[in-house]
Amino acid sequence: MQIQENISLRPYNTFGIDVTARFFTSFNSLESLQELVTSPLFNSQPHMVLGGGSNVLFTSNYNGLVLRNELTGIERVNEDADHYYIRAAAGENWHQFVLHCIENNYAGVENLSLIPGNVGASPMQNIGAYGVEIKDVFHELEAYSIANNTAVIFNKEDCEFGYRESVFKKKYKGKFIITSVTFRLSKQANFNTSYGAIQQELDAMGVQQLNIAAISQAVINIRRSKLPDPAVTGNAGSFFKNPTIPNEQFEQLKQQHPAIVGYSAGTSQTKVAAGWLIEQAGWKGYRTGDAGCHPKQALVLVNYGHATGNQVYALSEEIVQSVQDRFGIILEREVNII
Ligand code: FAD
Ligand code: EPU
Repeated sequence: MQIQENISLRPYNTFGIDVTARFFTSFNSLESLQELVTSPLFNSQPHMVLGGGSNVLFTSNYNGLVLRNELTGIERVNEDADHYYIRAAAGENWHQFVLHCIENNYAGVENLSLIPGNVGASPMQNIGAYGVEIKDVFHELEAYSIANNTAVIFNKEDCEFGYRESVFKKKYKGKFIITSVTFRLSKQANFNTSYGAIQQELDAMGVQQLNIAAISQAVINIRRSKLPDPAVTGNAGSFFKNPTIPNEQFEQLKQQHPAIVGYSAGTSQTKVAAGWLIEQAGWKGYRTGDAGCHPKQALVLVNYGHATGNQVYALSEEIVQSVQDRFGIILEREVNII
């Protein structure tokens, strides 16, 4: 177990925030994880697990132990008439896992192409994009219980998945380290092109015979056209969730703002496009110092170079206030603030 001290976390978070970790280490086996969790250092410090660092905003130096998850390995563990069960270790890169599935014709995750981060964080917030969420392909996960020093299996119900939510963000926050996730993927693809832009992109690509590789490429093309590449401009994807409001409130807003964008979220609720609200409030393309609101996607806050986490956070506060003043909707942050 090698512990580094006072190291910069800048390479380890896609916002590119330059903070330090008091202690930093990584684990690449269950044995090394167990050794870490039972060590005096772990038990005397605040601690956090870091995957790809693509959904965190550090607002100060981390005065504790950061554990970087480097568990790797993908294997087919089972199959039934219609499905393959694929287990991926938590430290596998998510997009590489998606590509592995496409190469092997395991269908179900193609719409989730090019999402940054690691497999282990994917159930944390039930990642989703282009009409699919992790919960649609999730079978079970294995997590390490910090309190009991044992491995625990969580099935789908146990995870209590919701829109960008799971039990690991709520009552079990900080209590488990996810070590692997098993996905239930289809032998026969059930293509999901319900998100309008996918069909348009497939048409533009000239795809005649629909297949999972084509859907993946369409999603990649759409994402590249509007989302900033963290290797170039620091960001953590959508900074806020799309808020859900009662249908009546949405209808009232629609009378005042006929162009407002919303989607049905069950019988009595409407999910509103937060990007639209933020753009209408005048923030799209706004920049203060090195913190900004992305010019092509207002839901994404960016670090143009040397913004601090507090500067990005302060901008997010201004946005929340102005959206509330203008539309009476309180935006909730999606990114984990640390
Ligand atoms: P991290 O940022 O490292 O961690 C996130 C949280 O999970 C932290 O609280 C961390 O402590 C915890 N954690 C991480 N690993 C573990 C583990 N093994 N066990 C326990 N806790 C753990 N998200 C979407 O849902 N859809 C998108 O379309 C999408 N697009 C994005 C586009 C861009 C350009 C970027 C930068 C981000 C995007 N995101 C999107 C957000 C992000 O990619 C996902 O939330 C991703 O799952 C985060 O993975 P990570 O490994 O980087 O997690
Ligand atoms: N919009 C605007 N202005 C903007 C941005 C968006 O008006 O600047 C409106 C447009 O009408 C657009 C609609 O909002 O049609 C939806 O925009 P988009 O398709 O880009 O999706 P989103 O709702 O902004 C969500 C997820 C993304 C995911 C995409 C695709 C959340 C918080 N975000 O974004 O996930 O990739 O849909 O499915 O649900 C993430 O979680 O980090 C993330 C990037």
